[in-house]
Amino acid sequence: MRTVGVVMNGVTGRMGHRQHLVRSVLAINAGGGVALSGGERVLLRPVLVGRNEGKLRDLAVQHDLADWTTDLDAALADPANEIYFDAQVTSARVGAVTRAMEAGKHVYAEKPIAESLEDAITLAKAARAAGVKNGVVQDKLFLPGLRKLQRLVEGGFFGRVLSVRGEFGYWVFEGDWQEAQRPSWNYRAADGGGIVLDMFPHWHYVLENLFGPVRAVTARAVTHVPRRWDEAGTPYDATADDAAYGIFELADGLVAQINSSWTTRVFRDELVEFQVDGTEGSAVAGLRRCRVQHRSMTPKPVWNPDLPATEPFRGQWQEVPDNAEFDNGFKVQWEMFVRHVLEDAPFPHDFASGVRGVQLAEAGLRSSAEGRRVALSPIDLGDA
Ligand SMILES: NC(=O)c1ccc[n+]([C@@H]2O[C@H](COP(=O)([O-])OP(=O)(O)OC[C@H]3O[C@@H](n4cnc5c(N)ncnc54)[C@H](O)[C@@H]3O)[C@@H](O)[C@H]2O)c1
Repeated sequence: MRTVGVVMNGVTGRMGHRQHLVRSVLAINAGGGVALSGGERVLLRPVLVGRNEGKLRDLAVQHDLADWTTDLDAALADPANEIYFDAQVTSARVGAVTRAMEAGKHVYAEKPIAESLEDAITLAKAARAAGVKNGVVQDKLFLPGLRKLQRLVEGGFFGRVLSVRGEFGYWVFEGDWQEAQRPSWNYRAADGGGIVLDMFPHWHYVLENLFGPVRAVTARAVTHVPRRWDEAGTPYDATADDAAYGIFELADGLVAQINSSWTTRVFRDELVEFQVDGTEGSAVAGLRRCRVQHRSMTPKPVWNPDLPATEPFRGQWQEVPDNAEFDNGFKVQWEMFVRHVLEDAPFPHDFASGVRGVQLAEAGLRSSAEGRRVALSPIDLGDA
């Protein structure tokens, strides 16, 4: 049994605490550690890092952890800490990850890896120059619904994929008469907020991994709700986009159209759903479920607004079986990254792919600001 120190920055936040500390790192340890190919097991020793002593101490007590500090450089100076993980607010990411790489640590980070394409490229190049393993969280790929969708793609279910339509969103309360359920920095442009920067990196890796590289984007980003109330109940100007309507062009004429919104009310089965239409069949995948309709089972509705709907359209789809056990997606990716660090196992979710996610976000914002389609060109990060 081996133990690897993991410096975890931003663990007092929503993602850092719940998904990465509790559901990933601590869950991995509770399950006996990460299994390496030779049968060896690796436990992770989290070192909690943050700005607020009191919050860190409380968190350490809550989870019975010994190591916490407000001094990032001290945590990075300890050679037993081989991995640095960052789930801070996006605007704080580049500086801290850079320091970790300078200290020779392997680095794993939440998305987006930077606020701008220029910074993302600098970070990816620095990782290559330092020769450290690097990774970005791409959790949606590991959701049961998307894993089943991927299985359908790989099994040739769709024939030629024609289009993808995605709906993501829910109502995020303004914060006056009911507390907002997301942190206020998300709604301030100056603090790295905005739904394009938040969600387009997700859409990028989902589209790229399932359907191929994104070639161009046309987007309209808007701020539908310009005034919100923060964690202290103080009103502020919401300067960041809270909804984005995007069209993404892929190879062979495949068009993906994805709405992202914190200003919509849910009339769907899940908070995100993708409908994929192909020549041989269609699928609708959410976070957990995936349903299909084969061409042989496709009804032939006739447009007649004078009559009520004659067919139970939703009932004409079949549920795709799990056929596997799906663990927490964040945890699965953590295990992959640890294996990547310790035994060079494959890990395609590197900073180079994180760069392409930020590229799509930046192109989406430019498309919206300039009112035009923006083509994406390949990014050269130089030799490894
Ligand atoms: N993978 C996903 O599905 C997913 C979902 C939500 C957020 N995220 C990403 O995770 C990161 C954190 O998001 P969150 O929702 O957990 O945010 P959060 O506000 O809940 O947490 C932010 C963390 O950063 C720390 N921090 C460091 N510097 C800060 C500063 N200057 N101002 C404020 N906080 C600072 C906070 O103390 C806190 O620990 C973001 O980069 C976001 O894009 C990813």
